[in-house]
Amino acid sequence: MAEQTKVALITGANRGIGFETAKQLGEKGVTVVLGARTLGAAEEAAAKLKAAGIDAHGIQLDVTKSADRVAAAAYLEQRFGVLDILINNAGMTTADGLRNITSQITDADLFAVFDTNFFAVVGLTRELLPLLKKSQAGRIVNLSSILGSLSLHADPKSPIYASKVFAYDASKSALNAFTIHLAHELKGTAIKVNSAHPGWVKTEMGTSAAPMEIPDGAKTSVELALLGSDGPSGRFLHMGKELPW
Ligand SMILES: NC(=O)c1ccc[n+]([C@@H]2O[C@H](COP(=O)([O-])OP(=O)(O)OC[C@H]3O[C@@H](n4cnc5c(N)ncnc54)[C@H](OP(=O)(O)O)[C@@H]3O)[C@@H](O)[C@H]2O)c1
Repeated sequence: MAEQTKVALITGANRGIGFETAKQLGEKGVTVVLGARTLGAAEEAAAKLKAAGIDAHGIQLDVTKSADRVAAAAYLEQRFGVLDILINNAGMTTADGLRNITSQITDADLFAVFDTNFFAVVGLTRELLPLLKKSQAGRIVNLSSILGSLSLHADPKSPIYASKVFAYDASKSALNAFTIHLAHELKGTAIKVNSAHPGWVKTEMGTSAAPMEIPDGAKTSVELALLGSDGPSGRFLHMGKELPW
């Protein structure tokens, strides 16, 4: 019997690692739904992939908006009846400078970063779990960061010890906690949940100082999206290698 085409939703897919992840999954025959804050940006990104022969669709999905999350679930239900892969890729950080000093972060900055990087991920995943449960091999990939590693932040010898961006780092640590807790809840089901560190990648967020090019930056997400039934769940990975929580 022919294998059914998989359906993936990638958030923040209009640019950066999210767009590239959609492209690479599409090239592997996955039907990709690209979420972006505006319908225009989502459709423009999807059109680029369609032009390359990929089955791509664009939807408006500002992950911080509950109405958009509900609409995304309704769209996927109606259009495909299932979701095989959820890539929680959309993310943000605070601007450089004083706003990143731990004791001086404003509540507004802290809330904004946690809203996008943590609360929205929990909200969207909760909304989409019924559809992921309909998949024979549901995969959830949470785009974390090595900067979310509490062990490495506490270790003066670690390469990230000096890189303390409080709101961003703490939001990714919280996201890692979500990965561990959800993977535990879903033990014994066909769904696997993992945190991905893409690497330090040349995107708007990563800046031009980053050593990795975007195609390599999408590899961890793609690998975790297509894990076999013997693959890990509840882990924190970069290019197949385990990172400390
Ligand atoms: N680049 C790195 O070195 C690096 C390292 C570790 C982890 N990461 C993580 O990897 C993920 C992708 O990062 P990136 O480097 O590709 O970043 P990016 O180039 O800055 O792209 C971020 C994407 O997220 C979208 N986004 C932000 N807020 C959103 C919202 N509320 N709703 C929907 N989309 C939203 C942006 O949309 P707009 O275009 O509308 O702003 C954009 O598409 C992030 O979670 C990031 O934390 C990146």
